[in-house]
Amino acid sequence: MAKVSVSILGCDQTRIGEQVLEAEKNGADLIHFDVMDGVYVENLCFGPQLAIDLKKISKLPISAHLELLRPETFLPMFARAGVDILTFQLDACPNPIHLLKEIKKAGMKAGIGIGPAYSVEGLRYILHHVDWLILMSVEPGYGGQTFEESVYEKIHQAKALMDELGHHVPISIDGGVNDVTGKKLIEAGADILIAGSYIFKDNKVAERVQTLKAL
Ligand code: DX5
Ligand code: ZN
Repeated sequence: MAKVSVSILGCDQTRIGEQVLEAEKNGADLIHFDVMDGVYVENLCFGPQLAIDLKKISKLPISAHLELLRPETFLPMFARAGVDILTFQLDACPNPIHLLKEIKKAGMKAGIGIGPAYSVEGLRYILHHVDWLILMSVEPGYGGQTFEESVYEKIHQAKALMDELGHHVPISIDGGVNDVTGKKLIEAGADILIAGSYIFKDNKVAERVQTLKAL
């Protein structure tokens, strides 16, 4: 059974707290918290105050997904906000080993995100520093995009690389996850399904979380 991480980018932003609590009540395992800078991606979203406020109402761990340039600049504010897992995009950071170590030093799990255009081979020389892996099946920037099928192959490649290097971390998939893709992702070996639109867009949060949990 995979874990379900609810991406609050998919929420009605006037009701984020309420929708997260409904997801939590129905079995969600994590809150996926995108942070966008309008530069690495053209969109903008979510600052540390929202993480602080979500921590007050929910017991779920917060997994912040930095879709921005200069991720090292933003580390301290998300550490202070109580974020549990901090992931940055590998192609947005020239010195990832340094940053992975800094994230851990700040008391968070250190995650790497790989965009759909990039290979998992890029993990080879950094994997032993990584606690958390997000394979993206849409380009960073927006919810509700078309799912890139290449992610299935990448799950297999990531697993093979982890076996080869003897260092295993949970594999999350982010983008276009629903009941159909979710089932195939689990079969391919995904550990965590991150879903935004599927869970939040049709006002069926309870049903949709339960469906993903039961896959
Ligand atoms: C995209 C974000 C995702 C997004 C996924 O840049 O990283 O977390 O919320 O949205 P859906 O589930 O709608 O594809
Ligand atoms: Zn994300």
